[in-house]
Amino acid sequence: MDPLEPVVTPSQTPAEPLRVAAESSSALEELATLDREPDVEAWRVRWLGRRSQLALALRGLGRLPASERAAAGRALNQAKKELTEGCRNRLAELREQATRRLGALDVSLPGRPLPRGGLHPITLTERAVVAAFAAMGFHVIEGPEVELDYYNFEALRIPADHPARDAMDTFWLAPPEGADARRSRPLLLRTHTSPNQIRFMEANDPPIRLIAPGRTYRNEATDATHEWMITQTEVLAVDRGLTLAHLKGTLYEFARRLFGEDREIRFRCDYFPFVEPGVEVSVSSPGGWIEILGAGMVHPEILARMGYDPEAYTGFAAGLGVERIAMLRHGIRDIRRFYENDLRFLRQF
Ligand code: DAH
Repeated sequence: MDPLEPVVTPSQTPAEPLRVAAESSSALEELATLDREPDVEAWRVRWLGRRSQLALALRGLGRLPASERAAAGRALNQAKKELTEGCRNRLAELREQATRRLGALDVSLPGRPLPRGGLHPITLTERAVVAAFAAMGFHVIEGPEVELDYYNFEALRIPADHPARDAMDTFWLAPPEGADARRSRPLLLRTHTSPNQIRFMEANDPPIRLIAPGRTYRNEATDATHEWMITQTEVLAVDRGLTLAHLKGTLYEFARRLFGEDREIRFRCDYFPFVEPGVEVSVSSPGGWIEILGAGMVHPEILARMGYDPEAYTGFAAGLGVERIAMLRHGIRDIRRFYENDLRFLRQF
C-alpha cells in the first residue's frame, strides 16, 4: 500500500473507529520486525501520518452519532498513544543497537595514517584573487560554462564574421537532442568569463562591482603557456564617473595584494571589441613580462544596449588568467603541470 494514498477520505464512509483502533495491535507487531530507521519512519507515516486511517477516523469523530462518539474517541486516542510510544521505543532500541555495534570497534587502535588532501593550487590562487577584490568591495557572481553564442560573442560586440573569434577557437556544442537544429540557438563552451558582464547588466542597474570566477575553454593546441581549459576571473564595475584611473588603481591594488610590493606591473594598449580603450597588463618575472589580464573601459555601445545612459555611466572591466597568476606566484614554468594530476607536483601546495 502506498503510505501517501489515503485509503478512505473523510467525505466518504467515516472509517469505523473501533475497527481502526483494533488494527493497531497488528501495526505494533509489524513495527517489531523493522530494523532500519527509514523503515520505521515509513511505518510512522503509514499508521500515524496525516492521511493514516487513524487520523481520518479521528477527524471523522464529529460525524458519529453522539452516543458512539465517546467510546470511539477513547479507543482511537488509546490506539494513537500506543502507536506513538511504540514508534519512539523502537527508534530508541535501534539507536542503542547501533551504538553497541560501534562500541565493538576499538577506535583507539593506531591505524595507517590517512593521506591528507589539500586544495588545488588553482583553487588557492582563485581564492586569493577573489579575496583581493572582495576586500575592495566587489561581490562574486557565477554564470554557466555552457553558454549561448549571444552572451559569449554577439552581445560583446564580436559578431559572426569578426576576426576576434579566430583568436578564441571555440568548442561548439551540438543542439540538445530533439531540438530543431535550424531553430535552436548556437551553444558553446564559454571561451572567457566576459559573458557574465552581459548576464549581470541585463538584469541589474548600476552601480555594479562584481567579479565572476570560473572555467573557460578553448579548442587550441597546448604548450607551456596554453591550456584548452583555463580559469578566469571577470571584473566589472559600472558607476557614475568611473575612469581609466579607477581601473588602473584597482588593478595596481590587486597586484600589490597578490604579488607584494616588489613586482613591477606594466600597462599596454590592447584591443578587445567590448572595451574602449583596451589594455593588457603584464607582471615582471625572472623570465620576462608575463601577461595576466586584459582590461578596459566598457564600450559605451554595450552600456547603451543594457539600457544604461552612457552619458551618465561609465564602466571598467577586466579578465584575469588565474593559471598565469598562479605560475607567477609559485615560479611554475609550464601551465600543463596544473592538470596532469601528478601528486608529486600537487603535494607542494
Ligand atoms: N575576455 C578576454 C579574453 O579572454 C579578456 C578580457 C579583456 C576581459 C578585456 C575583459 C576586458 O573584461 O575588459 O581574452
